[in-house]
Amino acid sequence: MKLSVERLSAGYGSIEALHDVSMCCETGETVAIIGGNGAGKSTALNCICGVVPISCGEVCLDGRDISDEPPHKIARMGIAQVPEGRRVFPRLTVLENLEMGAYMIDDKAVFRERLGYAYDLFPRLHERRWQNAGDLSGGEQQMLVIGRALMRNPRFLLLDEPSLGLAPVVVENIFDVIAGLVKTSEVGIVLVEQNAAIALSIAGRGYVLENGAVILDASAEALLSDDKVKAAYIGG
Ligand SMILES: Nc1ncnc2c1ncn2[C@@H]1O[C@H](COP(=O)(O)OP(=O)(O)OP(=O)(O)O)[C@@H](O)[C@H]1O
Ligand SMILES: [Mg+2]
Repeated sequence: MKLSVERLSAGYGSIEALHDVSMCCETGETVAIIGGNGAGKSTALNCICGVVPISCGEVCLDGRDISDEPPHKIARMGIAQVPEGRRVFPRLTVLENLEMGAYMIDDKAVFRERLGYAYDLFPRLHERRWQNAGDLSGGEQQMLVIGRALMRNPRFLLLDEPSLGLAPVVVENIFDVIAGLVKTSEVGIVLVEQNAAIALSIAGRGYVLENGAVILDASAEALLSDDKVKAAYIGG
């Protein structure tokens, strides 16, 4: 399957947050979207999910324009977003949070299988399954929101800055899991990150967004050796 945005523009009132942006991701690949604060990364993901309306262009799933569909329908089409800021349900347990992610699954056997999958990916979630999500560490909460999104067995997983504010060792652990997803399941991953080095270490390709426009579109290898990317997003 292929998820694409074509010549997309979107904004908030008079602010244009994205201008003429085209990007795509196929199942089986990991694509990074790199950019600094306010570049439009989250807006792009929110447009795909139908949360932010687009003013021009299209969001397409296998060539079909889905930009007029409401968020719940887009979710049912197999597009799952993990928004910025690790939004767990703090007063629910880890298990209850995972159950919330599975609200579309009626079949108990399928639910148990998905739950087992999430626990296999993140054994820490299994250890902590009875604990309130609000009491988890930042890294564990990130594992939980990713696990919750995977309960629906999505075709596309959109991750918004999963590394933000986490210790390097935790980031490494979570990114190892993310890197493994495309190898073990039929999913495409769109990875939004300010941390270009870590994102491009697991992505095959990437886009660099600046002021709402794509300024670079290349393989991860090419982006990692690009002088501008190195100076602006990798630190030398
Ligand atoms: N709800 C909103 N209302 C008004 N303007 C907004 C809103 N959300 C984002 N913007 C503006 O749109 C632009 C793009 O914001 P966006 O959140 O997409 O950037 P980002 O690349 O995700 O940044 P960050 O890395 O800081 O999360 C910014 O100028 C921002 O101020
Ligand atoms: Mg953002």
